[in-house]
Amino acid sequence: MSVFSDAIKTFLSPIGDLLDNPDVSEVMINGPNEIFVEKKGLVLKTENTFPNEEALISAMRAIAQSVGRVIDNDNPRLDARLPDGSRIHVVLPPMAKNGTTVAIRKFSQEKLTLNDLISFGSMSKSAARFLDICIYLGKNLVVSGGTGSGKTTMLNVLGSRIPKTQRLIIIEDAAELQVKAEHVVNFETRKADPTLGTTEVTIRDLVISSMRLRPDRIIVGEVRGEEALDLIQVMNTGHDGSMGTVHANNPLDACTRLETLCLMGDTKIPPDAVKKMVGSAMQVIVQCSRYHDGGRRTSHISEVLGLDNHGNYITRDIFKWVQTGKCPETGKYIGEMIPCNYVPSFFEDIVINKLPFPKSNFISPDWYHEMKKKAA
Ligand SMILES: Nc1ncnc2c1ncn2[C@@H]1O[C@H](COP(=O)(O)OP(=O)(O)OP(=O)(O)O)[C@@H](O)[C@H]1O
Ligand SMILES: [Mg+2]
Repeated sequence: MSVFSDAIKTFLSPIGDLLDNPDVSEVMINGPNEIFVEKKGLVLKTENTFPNEEALISAMRAIAQSVGRVIDNDNPRLDARLPDGSRIHVVLPPMAKNGTTVAIRKFSQEKLTLNDLISFGSMSKSAARFLDICIYLGKNLVVSGGTGSGKTTMLNVLGSRIPKTQRLIIIEDAAELQVKAEHVVNFETRKADPTLGTTEVTIRDLVISSMRLRPDRIIVGEVRGEEALDLIQVMNTGHDGSMGTVHANNPLDACTRLETLCLMGDTKIPPDAVKKMVGSAMQVIVQCSRYHDGGRRTSHISEVLGLDNHGNYITRDIFKWVQTGKCPETGKYIGEMIPCNYVPSFFEDIVINKLPFPKSNFISPDWYHEMKKKAA
């Protein structure tokens, strides 16, 4: 709550304990009487309530005002970032049928690292080492996943592994990434504000500017519109090692999703050519997933090999997370990330650069074959 002024704290007192609790990563308000939180990946209902709808709306109005925005009948949706980096989204009735509906994604000062992801069991040591190599070799990398699956966290982790001497340009809708490197330039989009007379500056505009600012690599925080085409062009024009995230449920979907986004704009490039560009620009996809047990894991690391003779994308899994059981006490899934018996097409680069990652690291373990045989 320390981010809020005393006046706002009073409005928010019904959820003060949730905002102050470091174990709570997200607060979800579905009208004044129903408040859920996410704790360690699990969504739980709380006893907290607001006295009534008016008290809840007043709290949201106060927050909007504190960040120079308005929420009222004419502007019934608010998407804002709080001064501490937390994100808030609000929708008012009558669109929100439950009453004023809010999600607050709390900003965590302690960013996860590659070692954290390994210790949580989200990723194997070997897969983490492989991703490090992909970044070192400047492979174009797309992080794919559903909402809240850990895409931004993964991009943050991977971005921080970029060699320190390279000039990195980061473009985001709302600045969330905190990439630790020596030479980083951060850009954030701007919405048009008629009251201030300011115009909109889109991700697309900033990608175009970035290209003229001598980047070594460009990172687009979240690709969700026609800027996909710009990112694909960046990747195809020598800025190897560029990265972005996309909303998709598996690596193949990530390819088709990016293709669809590329075609959303007024591009004159024929669809077949766009498809080829997507197939050749993307090299590695890191798929993030939120599982039913609440765990967030890297479900696949896959290579994109372009298109087959029928114009379909070819993807090959290099590593994947395999569930082997379920803990009877906690309900948590037991499993591990394993190699998929596929040696990536750029293995030669690994050898030439004398990177210590032998071919045997791509071989699936025997227990996996036995498990498959038993299941057949
Ligand atoms: N591997 C992980 N293990 C545990 N928690 C994680 C993991 N990855 C991310 N988280 C946590 O999950 C929450 C959501 O992560 P993040 O913001 O990276 O997801 P996202 O996919 O970018 O979400 P959105 O779709 O809303 O942009 C954060 O609180 C983050 O700290
Ligand atoms: Mg995100």
